[in-house]
Amino acid sequence: MRRLGILVSGRGSNFIAIADNITAGKLDAEIAIVISNRADALAISAAKQRGIPCHVIPSKGKDRVTHDAEVIAVLRNAKVDLVCLAGYMRLLSADFVRAFPGRILNIHPSLLPAFPGLDAQKQAFDAGVKMSGCTVHFVDDQLDHGQIILQKTVPLMPGDDVDALSARILEQEHIAYSEAIGMVLRGDVVDHTLEKK
Ligand code: GRF
Repeated sequence: MRRLGILVSGRGSNFIAIADNITAGKLDAEIAIVISNRADALAISAAKQRGIPCHVIPSKGKDRVTHDAEVIAVLRNAKVDLVCLAGYMRLLSADFVRAFPGRILNIHPSLLPAFPGLDAQKQAFDAGVKMSGCTVHFVDDQLDHGQIILQKTVPLMPGDDVDALSARILEQEHIAYSEAIGMVLRGDVVDHTLEKK
């Protein structure tokens, strides 16, 4: 069974969707460890409830390289095959990216390369686009950047506000992330940018 390490900072709905898809037999993998950089992340209580191993590694007051080294050590110890960022509010150091080449994924609530960074749904709403969505991509050391694996589109509707749009995008995120993880684990897609390095 392929082993996932999931990194979170907050609510954890994408982590829960992945866990539920595994339980439902829609994704052939197991969650080896959930790691949060914040002790108060709801994702940690959700992991505990489900009996999924979890670990808090506080990032506050540490430099990036020190914190990342601690996270890398826990992921290696858990023997993960794939690292999935799911609402992990930290930019990874180059060392981290190099530790798991082609094996780190992220989900972002826009159609990248449009609207990287914080409040992607609000950025899309304010720009007046008619279509947004979500993107699962391989992670490199730039924010919300790296080869795209899968995107799902979500239309903006008359009368939408940012909350309604965010909720509609989140529904698609919960489907997209497990699909993309399955594609990578099966070897249907690989990070071609690594060949150029
Ligand atoms: C999601 O919108 C994800 O795309 C973004 O952060 C949010 C995390 O939500 N990277 P959750 O913690 O998975 O509920």
